[in-house]
Amino acid sequence: MGDRFLVTGGARLTGEVSVGGAKNSVLKLMAAALLAEGVTTITNCPQIADVPLMADVLRGLGAEVELDGDVVRIDTPAVPKHHADFDAVKQFRASVCVLGPLVARAHRAVVALPGGDAIGSRPLDMHQAGLRELGARSVIEHGCVVAEADSLIGAPISLEFPSVGATENILTAAVLAEGVTTIDNAAREPEIVDLCVMLQQMGARIDGAGTSTLTVTGVPQLHPTTHRVIGDRIVGATWGIAAAMTQGDVTVRGVDPAHLQLVLNKLREAGAQVDTYPDGFRVLQRERPTAVNVSTLPFPGFPTDLQPMAIGLASVSEGMSVITENVFEARFRFVEEMVRMGADARTDGHHAVIRGIDQLSSAPVWSSDIRAGAGLVLAGLVADGVTEVHDVFHIDRGYPDFVESLRALGGKIERVV
Ligand code: UD1
Repeated sequence: MGDRFLVTGGARLTGEVSVGGAKNSVLKLMAAALLAEGVTTITNCPQIADVPLMADVLRGLGAEVELDGDVVRIDTPAVPKHHADFDAVKQFRASVCVLGPLVARAHRAVVALPGGDAIGSRPLDMHQAGLRELGARSVIEHGCVVAEADSLIGAPISLEFPSVGATENILTAAVLAEGVTTIDNAAREPEIVDLCVMLQQMGARIDGAGTSTLTVTGVPQLHPTTHRVIGDRIVGATWGIAAAMTQGDVTVRGVDPAHLQLVLNKLREAGAQVDTYPDGFRVLQRERPTAVNVSTLPFPGFPTDLQPMAIGLASVSEGMSVITENVFEARFRFVEEMVRMGADARTDGHHAVIRGIDQLSSAPVWSSDIRAGAGLVLAGLVADGVTEVHDVFHIDRGYPDFVESLRALGGKIERVV
């Protein structure tokens, strides 16, 4: 049946919690290690299930990978293999980020189409179109995405939407292309900046990291480096929102508050006192939160990965909230679980309308993806009785020490194996 969590509602979260490296950064950094022969070292890696899975993908491509606590060492061969097969990639979506590095280094990439979260269709058309602009042939064949090119030539590329994954795959191919590539309407997420910083340390020439236009001047070769992963803003914000929901007082360390400006402002709007520090923030909520509207958008907008937590907050706030999802169409499936917990919520297309109630009601609920699972646990913290959250393997994919962190803050949660 898999592990489940038993969450007993009613505790006010207080205390301090440290957050490790960002899931959405570390997997891309590991893939980028394929760009240079030799040993690349990545530190501050979160101990989540996706990291060993990514290590297996890289091993399948001929790299030697050593996981040692929060340090990952990747020894990349002179010529990596080009085929990431289905067994390696089926379990998680981020494996597709080996596409760019492989086409640049091995001239051919065959990556089985990945599984991943049930949050909506996740096509690769922009990844493929970008690689084609650089001169690669790219097709979907026998359940795999294929990209091949004898040489890549820099080109102007304009994305229809600032897709995080497409920006990363194009960037990691362009760094070794001949000439200049510009990526317009590029994603501006902090994890993209983190990737750019590591690539620059490896010898890549990139201008405009963190803006909508990335300019990449290709170089013939990159060298390995040592890089520290940025803190996980989504994990940090999960604890911050949990503090607001439980009328608690939580200090989060290990995250740059500049990566969460909008989220922290929303918490202020909900009535929290929010203080920021160079490496973290504190959320102190003295009274029942006030309803706030949230609209998810690419960075610097409100992250779609925090939409379930925003719905959790809305469900116990004073007043009516409208939550709009603009990034992944199927992410509102989670709302059905919230309704089972008594939330007064309706969805209509991209919008969820939620009227806050005093207290949710415990129920057995099922996680459908990492963030929905975390959102359900937060809801359990403010429900009467014991909420049973099933399919928590999803949560384990993105949150290291989830149970331990919550317990350290006074949350009542246990894992049932
Ligand atoms: C990454 C994050 C994920 C986060 C998302 C948006 C990782 C491992 N995952 O996912 O947690 O929720 O960014 O911040 O970093 N799209 C297309 N065609 C494409 C590519 C994307 O239509 O070729 C669409 C997607 O279906 C989606 C939207 O663009 O509706 C955004 O996707 P994208 O930014 O690419 O997200 P991911 O990189 O998959």
